[in-house]
Amino acid sequence: MGAVEISGMKNAAVAVILSSIVVEDRCVLENLPNISDVTISLDILRSMGAEVRRINPTTVEINTRSIMGGSAPYELVRKMRASYYVIGAELGRFGRASAGFPGGCDFGVRPIDQHIKGFEALGATVTVDNGCIEAKAENGVQGGQIYFDNSSVGATINVIIAAVRAKGMTVIENAAREPHVVDLANFLNACGAKISGAGTDVIKIKGVEKMHGCTYAIIPDMIEAATFMIAAAATRGTLRINNVIPKHLESISAKMEEMGIRVEELDDAVIVSGVDTLTRVNIRTLPYPGFPTDVQPQMCVLLCMANGVSTLYEGVWDNRFRYVEELKRMGAKIKVDGRTAIVEGIGALSSAPVRAVDLRAGAAMIIAALSAKGKTEIEEIHHIERGYDDIVGKLRGVGADIRKINLPDPYMYEKAN
Ligand code: EPU
Repeated sequence: MGAVEISGMKNAAVAVILSSIVVEDRCVLENLPNISDVTISLDILRSMGAEVRRINPTTVEINTRSIMGGSAPYELVRKMRASYYVIGAELGRFGRASAGFPGGCDFGVRPIDQHIKGFEALGATVTVDNGCIEAKAENGVQGGQIYFDNSSVGATINVIIAAVRAKGMTVIENAAREPHVVDLANFLNACGAKISGAGTDVIKIKGVEKMHGCTYAIIPDMIEAATFMIAAAATRGTLRINNVIPKHLESISAKMEEMGIRVEELDDAVIVSGVDTLTRVNIRTLPYPGFPTDVQPQMCVLLCMANGVSTLYEGVWDNRFRYVEELKRMGAKIKVDGRTAIVEGIGALSSAPVRAVDLRAGAAMIIAALSAKGKTEIEEIHHIERGYDDIVGKLRGVGADIRKINLPDPYMYEKAN
């Protein structure tokens, strides 16, 4: 049986790194994944005047004391969705913030109205003009009451960051409950913040005047773990996935078990044993603790191999089925009707040249390619490198025949030129 080690969680790491702006002190962050979104987050801090020192590939020392407000460069901000945490962080520390519109995967419209509503509840005036967001709280950030219209990870995290040093108490209702929200709150609390209720839908933040640095280890990446679980099942292998929090994987384990796959939970590992015959299932993606949208494309590959017709309903994003056209090149029979994909089980996919249209779609293409007969070439892998730490090396380590052909990563390429 092969074994794979899961890295720190991308979506927690980027939030923790950028939130260190409000800490205004020296922090040591451990268990960071070695991915381009982390590199970009660290570069954003550096460009704002922070001292950033890599101690080893997964540990970084950051000192944000000398950061200046309003200085995050647009060419970095536009590369990554999570860069909008700079706005919450600058607002929380300086009472004013300005940054370009963030980038990230294309799932149709990605509004930020809930972030804006949250900042306004903290006493800020927010303007969006010419692709630039500006927030100003003339009398400093004040505690406030916010009821989000929908569960938003980004808005919840951004408002927590903006509110930790506010005057008075902030209450967020209908908050996102994802493990990365909890991880961010744990980090900020370790730095002296007073946040309670993270992981529930009501979060309370008692503003503190000053914070202090700490040493903090990021939680394991549940989406990376789920990706390896699905890869094992799709290739009918048995794989031990180490350094996970099995509770975070429950919605995925439950669906895989419903398909007939064996999932054994240990203290900090899961063992997945693939089976020859996969049962069809229906899946609906939802905010945590529901089935994660970030595992939807990978799971779709598994549904292509099941007996019978499955349905996959996307409950979070308007348009997260762009990868279906790529899977169809590999023989998949999938019909998309609005937010539902109807997936006909065809047993096995066949190889074809495909594209990684976004991060998780790219992971799905890798799983599809590993399960298919023949050689598959996947283009635009910079999307995958944004969020998966050495996915090629990790898969090779457990017997996969995969290699990276040396094409320049656009981010690294731009840096070098
Ligand atoms: N939404 C609004 N208004 C807002 C913000 C969000 O209507 O102001 C809507 C969105 O359009 C969407 C839903 O709320 O329909 C959820 O969006 P959310 O804000 O939770 O997403 P996000 O914070 O932009 C994070 C992850 C995504 C993941 C989603 C949902 C990060 C950096 N990104 O995005 O991760 O899909 O939560 O869980 O944390 C990925 O890792 O591949 C990825 C895309």
